[in-house]
Amino acid sequence: PMRVRMRKVTLGNLVLAVVVSLAILSLYSMWSLPPSISNRSKLVARKDFLQKPKKTIKLSPEDQPMGSLLKQLGERDFDYIRKERLYNLRRKCEKAEEAKLIKKEVPAKKLGHIIVNDQYKVLFCYIPKVACTNMKRVFLILTGQMNTTNPLALKSKDVHMSLDKYLTYLDSYSDEEAAEKLRTYKKLIFVREPLERLLSAYRNKFIEKSAYFHKRFGRRIVRKFRDGVNKSQEIQGNDVTFLEFVHYITDENTMENEGFNEHWAHYSALCHPCHVQYDLIGKYESIDEDVNFVLKDLKIDELIKFPKRNATYRRTKTGDQLESFYKTIPKDLLGKLWKIYRSDYNLFDYPYPQFLEKFLAPEDEV
Ligand SMILES: *[C@@H]1O[C@H](CO)[C@@H](O)[C@H](O)[C@H]1NC(C)=O
Ligand SMILES: *[C@@H]1O[C@H](CO)[C@@H](O)[C@H](O)[C@H]1NC(C)=O
Ligand SMILES: *[C@@H]1O[C@H](CO)[C@@H](O)[C@H](O)[C@H]1NC(C)=O
Repeated sequence: PMRVRMRKVTLGNLVLAVVVSLAILSLYSMWSLPPSISNRSKLVARKDFLQKPKKTIKLSPEDQPMGSLLKQLGERDFDYIRKERLYNLRRKCEKAEEAKLIKKEVPAKKLGHIIVNDQYKVLFCYIPKVACTNMKRVFLILTGQMNTTNPLALKSKDVHMSLDKYLTYLDSYSDEEAAEKLRTYKKLIFVREPLERLLSAYRNKFIEKSAYFHKRFGRRIVRKFRDGVNKSQEIQGNDVTFLEFVHYITDENTMENEGFNEHWAHYSALCHPCHVQYDLIGKYESIDEDVNFVLKDLKIDELIKFPKRNATYRRTKTGDQLESFYKTIPKDLLGKLWKIYRSDYNLFDYPYPQFLEKFLAPEDEV
């Protein structure tokens, strides 16, 4: 039944994609938005938003068995999909604004996740576990100080440590300077299915070696959330289970008292998508296409070859993995987790995840 559904979605979307993109594409150029939006100050929450496209092409992780849908879609379809992502974000921000959930302004010092390149007039908001290392490599090469144009020549560890000083972030500017760059530069953000990213962060920081995270978070998580641990016991913090990690994330004290680390922070907290008017929302689910688009648009596609996503990456496999981890989490915690991250799902138009549906009926949502 799975396969049938997917094929139907694929064909349906393909037809839609062709018809709709032909109709809509002539109306917009690649990056530009209607003047009423692009000329406004970017640091102030908006009033205007784009016209709703007539048809929608949904690209959810579940709709992309091994990227088959993506392979069938052409460049013009992606152009349409990207526009729709922007439209959706604006509509959601408008609603949040009406509900007074959004602060009027964000000071430059809160924009420390946005990487600046003045030569190419481009800003990129990095989110850990969403192609972050590779995009930082690209921005490092764009500084012209790397002595290489091969992203893979820059070691992952160096990208985050010794080479970081070559990158410039928006929080190093005054509010006025930051506002000017936000007004005139292209602005990019890459996101990913939020709970998939959370699992990816857990695996990366607690299953793989990460001495810093074991010491800084692991020890505390074990002390607080593992039964039968006593004060005199020595704790390494290197064997945190996914359930313990989720206990930590959903514990009220975590958000209130210490805040979320950037690896599990909300996209909206890191990148302020209702204040910064992004020109492009890339998604991990279509990362190759979105990155190619960015490189072409900046006219650096001949200069830099972005490392392709690992060929072993498969949506279906990832889906199984999600299920095997999330099924260890009791319903009440899954419900809390969903409540915590639902705003990111909402802003970036990710559907209620299939792997949650199995354990948490939709009526448990609220
Ligand atoms: C690039 O090469 C120059 C000259 O050898 C060197 O001083 C500089 O540190 C190199 N840059 C990096 C990022 O390694
Ligand atoms: C605390 O843990 C240590 C090491 O596992 C154990 O020897 C000791 O009996 C425990 N103490 C209590 C009070 O449970
Ligand atoms: C791709 O991932 C697999 C399994 O995670 C790994 O063994 C392989 O080395 C990776 N390949 C590249 C090019 O990173």
